[in-house]
Amino acid sequence: MTITIRDLRTFKADGRRFAMLTAYDHPTARILDDAGVPVLLVGDSVGRNHLGYPNELPVTMEDILHHTKAVVRGAPHAMVVADMPFMSYQASVEEGVRNAGRLIKEGGAHAIKLEGPQFELVHRLTDIGIPAMAHVGLTPQAVLGLGGYRVQGRGETGEQVREHARQLEKAGAFAIVLEAMPSDLGTEITQELQIPTIGIGAGAGTDGQVLVINDLLGLNDQVPKLAKKYADVRSVIREAAEAYIRDVADGGFPDADHSYS
Ligand code: KIV
Repeated sequence: MTITIRDLRTFKADGRRFAMLTAYDHPTARILDDAGVPVLLVGDSVGRNHLGYPNELPVTMEDILHHTKAVVRGAPHAMVVADMPFMSYQASVEEGVRNAGRLIKEGGAHAIKLEGPQFELVHRLTDIGIPAMAHVGLTPQAVLGLGGYRVQGRGETGEQVREHARQLEKAGAFAIVLEAMPSDLGTEITQELQIPTIGIGAGAGTDGQVLVINDLLGLNDQVPKLAKKYADVRSVIREAAEAYIRDVADGGFPDADHSYS
């Protein structure tokens, strides 16, 4: 059975904290789904983590569609949330509705995620029946305007983050990502809202947590403060590649076991 937005509400009501992870490809989605990760996010972080871009801004609808289809095919149980890329919804509500529709209809996603105070668009999508996950605090698509990937909501600006979260819930968002903000603010927003909050760098008081899969696996050179490395897959890949290079060079591969008579 696939996880639905109702399940996430139940998790919150029962005080059951849940995990979300980004996934960008089919084999990883299969492993994460099998491991029981309830929510997979095809984040626009695919740009920085898989496509070699310096930030999220160049990621296109076609990129997200391509990766969403691969993840959906590998995840029969998880809810798959597709991120709306930069400039796929900022110009007009109409364009946002059409592009969200594509992620559901062509991509096979169960929900979409968008950043910032997009109250009208969230309202329209909710009316249509497209579940919308909101995202406040550090919104990476605004990286240029924010002057970098910086903690948000410190001091007086916290009230604006809180108000955006309230309005997004009112507009119909089924869940909200809280990124890079003081832990107290993350906890207070979680306590105030009825919908589940999913934190990344927002402290331990949120209903769920999300990590970028590359950070969890240790695939990148560096892991940001808000993430935790649970494995060193970078070393595993490197050591396997070095062993293979050596085997090929000294004739150790292929041996009789890997050859046809
Ligand atoms: O794109 C992404 O990976 C995200 C998460 C960090 C929430 O938006």
